[in-house]
Amino acid sequence: MALITKAIKGTQDVLPAVSHKNQYVEETMLRVAQRYGFREIRTPVFEHTELFQRGVGDTTDVVQKEMYTFEDKGGRSITLRPEGTAGAMRAFLEHGLFNEALPQKVSYLTSCYRYEKPQAGRLREFHQFGVECLGASEPAADAELIGLAQTIFETLGVEDLSLEINSIGCPECRKEYHAALKAYFESHREELCPTCLERLDKNPMRILDCKSPVCGRIAAQAPVVLDYLCDDCRTHFDRVKAMLDSMNVPYAVNPRIVRGLDYYTRTVFEFVSDSIGAQGTVCGGGRYDGLAEELGGPHVPSLGFALGIERLLLVMHSQGIEFPQPDPCMLYIAAMGERAACEAASIAQSLRASDFPVEIDTCGRSLKAQMKYAGKLGAQYTVVLGDNELDAGVYTLKNMQTGEEMQIAADEFIETFVETAILAMEADLKEMFGLEE
Ligand code: HAM
Repeated sequence: MALITKAIKGTQDVLPAVSHKNQYVEETMLRVAQRYGFREIRTPVFEHTELFQRGVGDTTDVVQKEMYTFEDKGGRSITLRPEGTAGAMRAFLEHGLFNEALPQKVSYLTSCYRYEKPQAGRLREFHQFGVECLGASEPAADAELIGLAQTIFETLGVEDLSLEINSIGCPECRKEYHAALKAYFESHREELCPTCLERLDKNPMRILDCKSPVCGRIAAQAPVVLDYLCDDCRTHFDRVKAMLDSMNVPYAVNPRIVRGLDYYTRTVFEFVSDSIGAQGTVCGGGRYDGLAEELGGPHVPSLGFALGIERLLLVMHSQGIEFPQPDPCMLYIAAMGERAACEAASIAQSLRASDFPVEIDTCGRSLKAQMKYAGKLGAQYTVVLGDNELDAGVYTLKNMQTGEEMQIAADEFIETFVETAILAMEADLKEMFGLEE
């Protein structure tokens, strides 16, 4: 039978040799977000299709072309989440979190699914770290959120990202803007792609986000929403900028940012890299003051952002950022014979329960092969157990770096190993920080 060895196009395996990198960035992001008051939320990988049609917007590329939608056995239309905001808002409304102290600040790490043409930095299954601040209307929330993204990048040592911000106004100021856009695109009607022709009537702002080169060229000359902001939206945007200035967060106003999802209002922003090719937007977000109502809930001014893990890792690699290595194996217990194997398993179980990474033979290897494997693991210490050692009640602990050996009574082995290992770790730390012995 032929082996099934090909993953689905646009999906990626994260192999054990590199998964510590994902863990490191994910743990860092969750930890930094906690400092800003965000607590993790977990929502299902699939939702009712209607949630995304209404939430993300049925004139967006995501909804029109990219969703993984299917009918389940009960005849419901189900969609794998293309992004995390709609699900987070659904959970917030369903569980009545709007009755609790606001804002509710949530973070998430999720897989997302979009049927896009795969290329570097663009996958069909990708992963987002996201945050949503639900129930905060003031510019301070916008600045806080952008400040959080900035701190995450700083903590990870990511440098070459530029922050671009814009305001796309509210439904009020958009009335006039939509009219201006419509008039502009009408004059290019013949050149627009069929999808944008449909958008012309329903939602002309979506044409600004079309990926077709011709529509893109026309959109580049279109009127910009910043010129149409109402007084409230302009004041809001000015205050966001003033706060970013006072927080020393560098940004550039880019009036062409509109974002690809329909729920946005007022502030939108993107962190962009020019070192990873065409898919350079690493993080994107903004306000979505109308989303809760769009989904049938109360008025809950909200905002958030999501950061693509795969794109972030591409940027970190392109910058040559070093990742902390996972803990190495501290002790390899080589065993010969059944009695020794039982003793090895018993010691390993105790030490592992006390947080020490320990390895034993599980493949029935010869002593020579076990020691070779211990070398591959980079074990810091080894101990060899056989009938002789068990009968004598004395084990020899070997430091693999210095070659030093230490005889330890069998019934004191665990305690002595723990002491030795802790002393060695302390000495390493002192050396690392240049402290006197
Ligand atoms: P988005 O801009 O569609 O926004 O996606 C956010 C990030 O996810 C992008 O900046 C990118 O890094 C990553 N991403 C998107 N599509 C792909 C893909 N096909 N392959 C790899 N990475 C990808 C949202 O999803 C909003 N929910 C963000 C948000 C949260 N707005 C408010 N709250």
